[in-house]
Amino acid sequence: MSSSVQAELTCFEASCRKRFAITEVLYNCPKCGGLLETTYSGPRPSAGELRDLFRQRRLSNAPLDTSGVWRYRELFPFLNDPKYVVTLREGNTPLLEAPIAAQYGGLDRIAFKHQGFNPTGSFKDNGMTCGASQARRLGMQRVACVSTGNTSASMAAYAAAAGLEALIFLPHGNISFGKLAQALEYGARTLEVEANFDQILALVRVLAERLGIYLLNSMNPFRVEGQKSIIFEMLEQRDWNPPDWIVLPGGNLGNTSAFGKALREARELGLIQKMPRLAVIQAEGAAPFYELFHQGGELHAVGKPETLATAIRIGDPVSWPKALHEVRSSCGTVERVTEQEIADAKAMIGRAGVGCEPASAATLAGIRKLTASAVIAKNADVVAVLTGNVLKDPDYIYKYHTGKLEAPGGVKIRGTFGNQSIVVPNDPDRIAALLQ
Ligand code: F0G
Repeated sequence: MSSSVQAELTCFEASCRKRFAITEVLYNCPKCGGLLETTYSGPRPSAGELRDLFRQRRLSNAPLDTSGVWRYRELFPFLNDPKYVVTLREGNTPLLEAPIAAQYGGLDRIAFKHQGFNPTGSFKDNGMTCGASQARRLGMQRVACVSTGNTSASMAAYAAAAGLEALIFLPHGNISFGKLAQALEYGARTLEVEANFDQILALVRVLAERLGIYLLNSMNPFRVEGQKSIIFEMLEQRDWNPPDWIVLPGGNLGNTSAFGKALREARELGLIQKMPRLAVIQAEGAAPFYELFHQGGELHAVGKPETLATAIRIGDPVSWPKALHEVRSSCGTVERVTEQEIADAKAMIGRAGVGCEPASAATLAGIRKLTASAVIAKNADVVAVLTGNVLKDPDYIYKYHTGKLEAPGGVKIRGTFGNQSIVVPNDPDRIAALLQ
């Protein structure tokens, strides 16, 4: 891997910017407590060289080149030796046009960048391959995370593939069964804590320090580096022609941070000339970033976040300073949507033949609101990022289509686009009569 580039950990706070060796085990700046990011200095290839290199690698069968993350490795050159890489051939996710969903969202056209096509079914794999590789480089034996389900599924898989011990902390009763099942199947030690995501994150930070475990939550700067590849791959699929808007759901805000960093760096390297605008969508019951963006000041945590989109049921998002910087510098926006809006948008994404998990559908619900208020123009070029696979939460789907879905607080969700199965006798005449 590139030896001439110097990689460091740098404090994200503009007033600090203290730098640390890339091999230090740090999640926050020891001087000011700020978030950390990786920064690079030294000679980098030209935009033309990079574009050619990425395209050529599609003809290669080498493990690093067939990964939709490591194919772009010159854009996050933090690892000094490829021998540390653990890859499950993550990334390589499609950009899918969906006319029905576009119409529902008030747009002429929409393309979904579907991260649910990843090995464990969510965008977390893009970052986890980098986080797990750095864990191996640091000689770590054990890795840990708190998760609303997808990070844990992903970490469990990558830890297993890398021969690391995985320790997972989950909010008891508040993750989908599919995600919990993945963690168990991949052999992770799984603890369900009677607390919410934000409370468990504080707990896990203490435990990681005390027990010398490497933390793989999204404030881990190497996870953020890997998640940048979602943007690089999308841009390459569009021949480096950036869209007007990139829309994504916001929970702990690691992905928003990664997307903004990717876009800034792509522009600095000359890979793109124009910055797309970021639109972050939150669920109404867990929308502290929406409040912050529109009210200003510091983030006020939501003490009891509530949403059926459990992936984004987060009241105190760790990466808000980075995310705020990225949304503002892209001239972007933040929107919030109701449980009903998420559920109906999700069904429409299903009707388009695409499908996704509830948190991902916040994107289309948000787009519908943002086109209605003319923040996003009808003819805008929009990419929405679907973060998780439709099969992550089948319980939600079944309840929606059978009219049994209830929002937190017991409010019934209408099955606006409901589709129920019908029980029939084993009788061709009666079935034929029914279908006529
Ligand atoms: N969509 C899905 C499907 C997620 O799983 C998450 C986060 C998000 C969106 C929000 O991304 O946190 O980067 O803003 N899931 C985390 C987890 C918190 O533990 O799996 P974010």
